[in-house]
Amino acid sequence: MSVVTDAVEAYRKQFGSEPQGLWAAPGRVNLIGEHTDYNDGFVLPFALPQHTVAAVSPAPAGEWTVCSTFTDEAVSFGLTRPGEVTGWAAYVAGVVWALAEDGHEVPGARIALASEVPLGSGLSSSAALESAVLTALIDLGRLDVPLERRPSIAQRAENVYVGAPTGIMDQSASIRCQEGKALFLDCRSFEVDQIPFDLAAEGLAILVINSNAPHQHVDGEYGARRKSCEEAAAILGVPALRDISVADLDTALSRLDDEVMRRRVRHIVTEDQRVLDTVALLREGRVREIGPVLTAGHASMRDDFEITVAQVDVAVEAAIAAGALGARMTGGGFGGCVLALIEAGRADVTTGAVEAAYAERGFQAPTCWTVTAGPGATAITA
Ligand code: GLA
Repeated sequence: MSVVTDAVEAYRKQFGSEPQGLWAAPGRVNLIGEHTDYNDGFVLPFALPQHTVAAVSPAPAGEWTVCSTFTDEAVSFGLTRPGEVTGWAAYVAGVVWALAEDGHEVPGARIALASEVPLGSGLSSSAALESAVLTALIDLGRLDVPLERRPSIAQRAENVYVGAPTGIMDQSASIRCQEGKALFLDCRSFEVDQIPFDLAAEGLAILVINSNAPHQHVDGEYGARRKSCEEAAAILGVPALRDISVADLDTALSRLDDEVMRRRVRHIVTEDQRVLDTVALLREGRVREIGPVLTAGHASMRDDFEITVAQVDVAVEAAIAAGALGARMTGGGFGGCVLALIEAGRADVTTGAVEAAYAERGFQAPTCWTVTAGPGATAITA
């Protein structure tokens, strides 16, 4: 893995010695279950084969220095309060802060980071960074932090320290995913079920299509969606939209005056059901049948939750027209990536079809590659 070499080189260049250990954490693709996490609902992500790698050695207590291949500048800090460290290093300072807040004696460390998770593409590059650093610090300090507790710590770094109001999915995926499995996560209880997800055995593949669309208004729109869901839950008198079932949906919608809010609720309630349906199909080995469920999820994000942009809609349409069994945007929205469920061997044809559709509309070219479900965050050797 060249990203490993990159992290080691960055470490040597900054600190003039060899790192004591290496940790890797993946980005993720979400198969289905979008914006359901902060509604206490269900998600089904799997880990990407792309990682962020941290090359790390111990440092004196209370001292952290972090450098990366993304910038020339190294950042040093002690124990800080949220907001004191800004920019990319805030994700690292945030993890240190959140671990300390959780009652742990966080070991001082020198950290060099490199990543092959595309930044800002909705593939959770920030969660991969947080999870690599968190796992490294836990191992280095021999801290007693059970696996199921770790995503909440990384999420607090992002919510409170960095200030992004995201849910629990991305950090859970980066930390708890297993190779060859999709992670069925209940975002209320944090219970997981590892669902076998071996597409090659079925003659299928997942193609990731990075729309390369510029992300716009992401933070504001994400926060607005979250607020709308929370307001709807309050009006409906439930702790979260997870508590509305598809059978209750019409009654719930009839109690909401606002048309936009009704659509937001319809997306969340039907999306939770799509996760359950997808899990049921995968468990029964009816993998091909998840295609239409994925595509229905896209329509719901486009029409009801209104988080797609032209580039992702065109990618979905072009992939399906080229024979994909299903396709949908993955991640928070407003740009980012599409995943398409395709017959193995159809990656080039599908990629060509999406490229042609983009060229016709004058969009910047997409980037496409096939992925399999990889392992979660772990110590590695060079
Ligand atoms: C982003 C957030 C997640 C989740 C997704 C949408 O990736 O970080 O918590 O809400 O958007 O499903």
